[in-house]
Amino acid sequence: MSPQSASPNTSLFPKTYVLNEENHPTIGGLDVVELAATYGTPLYVLDEETIRSMAYAYRSTLSAIYPGKSLVLFASKAHMNMGICRLMDEESLGLDVVSGGELFTALQAGFPMERIFFNGNNKTMEEVELAVQQQVGRITVDNFYELELIHRVASRAGRMVEVLLRVTPGIECHTHDYIKTGQNDSKFGFDLSQLSEAVDLITKDYSKTIVLKGLHAHIGSQIFETQPYEDLVRIMLNIYYNIREHYDGLILEDLNLGGGMGVAYAQGDDPPDVPAALQKVVDTLCAYAEQIEYPLPRLLLEPGRSMIATAGVTLYTVGSTKQVPGGKKYIAVDGGMGDNIRPALYQAEYSAVVANRMAEDTRETVVIAGKYCESGDIVLREFTGPVLQPGDTLMVLGTGAYNYSMASNYNRMPRPAVVLLENGTSHLLVRRETYEDLVQYDLVPKHLSSTSSGMVFAS
Ligand code: LLP
Repeated sequence: MSPQSASPNTSLFPKTYVLNEENHPTIGGLDVVELAATYGTPLYVLDEETIRSMAYAYRSTLSAIYPGKSLVLFASKAHMNMGICRLMDEESLGLDVVSGGELFTALQAGFPMERIFFNGNNKTMEEVELAVQQQVGRITVDNFYELELIHRVASRAGRMVEVLLRVTPGIECHTHDYIKTGQNDSKFGFDLSQLSEAVDLITKDYSKTIVLKGLHAHIGSQIFETQPYEDLVRIMLNIYYNIREHYDGLILEDLNLGGGMGVAYAQGDDPPDVPAALQKVVDTLCAYAEQIEYPLPRLLLEPGRSMIATAGVTLYTVGSTKQVPGGKKYIAVDGGMGDNIRPALYQAEYSAVVANRMAEDTRETVVIAGKYCESGDIVLREFTGPVLQPGDTLMVLGTGAYNYSMASNYNRMPRPAVVLLENGTSHLLVRRETYEDLVQYDLVPKHLSSTSSGMVFAS
């Protein structure tokens, strides 16, 4: 799919995208063909202005329509490194972390711990200890095992831990099966039928170590409709109402509705407008809270993809071509499933442009293949654009979320660098891996350490 055509869908591009006088795309004022030459390819590129404007859209909308009662937590799994933590802190966002590694990264970046919410469905003792020791804002408890673990760690540390309970609200939404989470029969969260047992435990047995601050639900990812969120608000407030009835007027202060807002990947995608979607959610929340006479909770959201996907592009260099006689034409680029697993894992579609041939109008339809030794390593199943030649720069759009964070070293390929573009300047957020990086953790056991095999080959 190529947006190089007549009227491209502008929601596919970073906000600062414009063509320069050489007809090359520029992002953040920088020519991407030059960036590819400077940093090498594959290269992850992020536009700071797009990230900041999404952060602002979430934050400013909520502070206007739901004043003083919200916190937007960036779902760091979408794109995590220390520079991004700093940027999110500057934007006054919180962070949703799901592992000790994400928590440690935030800690190293000096991210305020009180704005960190710790999610995940199988936190280890060490992870809980780190979270309790660092006094993160909230731990979101996924199951009974974790509840007991937190109780033990908190007792030892002599601390009270403020938690949310994650529930499975029984909402089906239209997205890929692998990224649905809110339906019944999900690995995440307490089933609604188990919730009272969990609240009993916290309010009775664990009342000296754990305080229940609210509930959490995340219904899935890449969602284009707002209705499931409105349904979610009602389901959650009904639970809040029941908890107040059954637990001596207990009021829950926080309501976390998770993330999941979709973005455009393909030319025909029409993602929801964030401020308009937030307005609907807040309207439902205010109206329903009033109806059941419940004090308005603090509203927490955990956007990942919608915060950063469109800010990112990946630059590749074109290499080999294979024309199947009487069949498809495959054009291979210098990356693939190691830097973008999403097409192979979710049949994800992407859009792309050829950065050094924006003015050409000859067109052909090809398959853009990766360079990994796997038939499923396809970057774009169908790309219509100019006739590609070795050395061309292909720019794949919408790669800011989950591409870098899910990257691997499959085939022992070094992972690409990440650069952040800001007002005409490029900053490395993550340097490109080297071959030396690839072997740095390898250890050769003594009995294998002789470098000669002792075999003699005939010359
Ligand atoms: N909160 C929780 C508890 C989550 O599990 C997730 C995503 C989010 C927030 C952020 O959701 P978002 O706003 O990004 O949709 N690797 C997949 C996506 C998996 C999402 C997992 N959870 C992909 O590449 O599409």
